[in-house]
Amino acid sequence: MTFKKINIAIDGPSGVGKSSIAKKIAQKFNYLFINTGSLYRAIAFFCQKKQISVQNVQKILKNFMPNFLLLDLEGNVWLENQNVSSFLRDDLISKNAAVVAQYPQIRKIVTEILQDFQKKHKGIVMEGRDVTYNVMPNADLKIFLWADAETRAKRRCKQNAFLNLETDVQKILKSIEHRDYLDMNRKINPLKKTIDSVFLDTTNFKENQIVDQIIKLVLRKIGQNML
Ligand code: C5P
Repeated sequence: MTFKKINIAIDGPSGVGKSSIAKKIAQKFNYLFINTGSLYRAIAFFCQKKQISVQNVQKILKNFMPNFLLLDLEGNVWLENQNVSSFLRDDLISKNAAVVAQYPQIRKIVTEILQDFQKKHKGIVMEGRDVTYNVMPNADLKIFLWADAETRAKRRCKQNAFLNLETDVQKILKSIEHRDYLDMNRKINPLKKTIDSVFLDTTNFKENQIVDQIIKLVLRKIGQNML
């Protein structure tokens, strides 16, 4: 028996666990998982590689071509024919991704790549800042995840310990607050909850509890009682 495939958009602030939760939902339903932030991160990585300042949008646009970026079905990001997915997590890239994501021209490039991907596939879990109202406004299910900044900093700290990255909670908290500020206050496509998104506050819940809640919402959408 085959079930209807739906598209799911998951939004929320930095460090709330969007990626990890979206990945689990995609695995559960055998859907494609796309982390939209990885495209902004790849452009920040491109700037670092070519020694272009992320403040200099004109220079970025002069040197960067949209066809340099490619998303594969595993959600990997390819930059100039190289799978760069494993180079995108460090703090400098995180910071610079939030800077490049402020430029309308860069957002247009990334949005077009993501919308092109959606035209070709069904059964996608896409997560990121503007997916619920810009990239995938017609998603069948929209979720807005939330957690307070301290909780997110502690979670990030734990993840970073595994990755040998920054583990000073105060530094991480500062960086998260700074990114929240940039993401919520930028002129185009700021972080915001749409009226048709389900708001899930994850602060006092374990990740698996949130995943279970979302699974229930998906099952309701696809009209199944049980999987
Ligand atoms: O989600 P992630 O932390 O990987 O995203 C990196 C940065 O890219 C975010 O801080 C945000 O500024 C930007 N971003 C965005 N729109 C998206 C996804 C990410 O502006 N859809």
